[in-house]
Amino acid sequence: MDELKGLILSGGAGTRLRPITHTSAKQLVPVANKPVLFYGIEALVEAGISEIGIIVAPETGDEIRAAVGDGERFGASVTYIDQDQPLGLAHAVLTAEEFIGASPFVMYLGDNLLREGITDLVRAFRESEPDALILLTRVDDPQSYGVAELDGDQVVRLVEKPKDPPSDLALVGVYMFKASIFDAARAIEPSGRGELEITDAIQALIDGGDKVEPHIVQGWWKDAGRLEDMLDANRLVLEDLVTRIDGELIDSQVDGRVVVEEGAVLERSVVRGPAVIGAGTRISDSYVGPYTSIDRNVVITGSEIEHSIVLEGSSIRELHTRMEASLLGKNVSLTRSDGMPKTLRFLVGDNAEIAIP
Ligand code: G1P
Repeated sequence: MDELKGLILSGGAGTRLRPITHTSAKQLVPVANKPVLFYGIEALVEAGISEIGIIVAPETGDEIRAAVGDGERFGASVTYIDQDQPLGLAHAVLTAEEFIGASPFVMYLGDNLLREGITDLVRAFRESEPDALILLTRVDDPQSYGVAELDGDQVVRLVEKPKDPPSDLALVGVYMFKASIFDAARAIEPSGRGELEITDAIQALIDGGDKVEPHIVQGWWKDAGRLEDMLDANRLVLEDLVTRIDGELIDSQVDGRVVVEEGAVLERSVVRGPAVIGAGTRISDSYVGPYTSIDRNVVITGSEIEHSIVLEGSSIRELHTRMEASLLGKNVSLTRSDGMPKTLRFLVGDNAEIAIP
């Protein structure tokens, strides 16, 4: 088989992660303090794929370009491809036709995370050379995904977000294709949501008698498109954390798997892992509990936080109630106002969600 290329889709409006995505690409939201997108790039490079195209949308393309650069630090060479309108995954594939040429390729949705990476699956694709290799995993809510109906190890049918799912096998957002996918993508019509669905393009391959090989994913998979999935992905990645304390601990206690980056300072605080504390962050008189990722240059005083993601530059002061299952964007300030009247005061962006006990 010819050398494989990689194609990462990093467009999309990220509507399910608003308001974070009003100002930032969903693929750059950090999981364990590393942008989701970087996990995908690393998975491709680890599988021996270094020529990578990244499809970007007009709104977030510049931010993605700035974060990833030319790919050198990942050991990859990155080409950016503009998708002017979000017309679906199969449309995205077509916009990349010039970049892909006649090469077989791995298409990776930029908000997907796979614990076991894709190295073994890429090897299977190289060995059996099907027209397409799809990854499947069992889910509780198949109606939210593309769903496969199998007969033994044959794919009989693929349906996008079916109301009445034929199985609980969801299509994972990593696909391996040969150049035959381009004609299939050209042959289909937009779906009910007005998009050219990759699921329909693969169905077109099946209808044309092409070989589509299914693989059930071992290890967890997450599509980090919603807050709960983001927090879940954060929890799962942190499970594999290896303790490393490069920052400073003053009268503080660190239990379990914890990373404290250089330049971070903990004073009179307890951090119970798995948790990661970013460079330049200062935590005083506080408790940080399991499954929490605190990004760079955050200030936390007199507060308790658990199972949350806090982005860079934010501050949390004297909360008096434990905060959990939360995602704070960049430069958010949560503080206590002294004096009377005892009111709640907010300056909150569109589509924010706040729950008060
Ligand atoms: C897309 C695909 C769907 C697949 C999912 C995986 O869904 O259309 O078939 O199961 O990615 O993440 P979307 O994220 O567009 O809702």
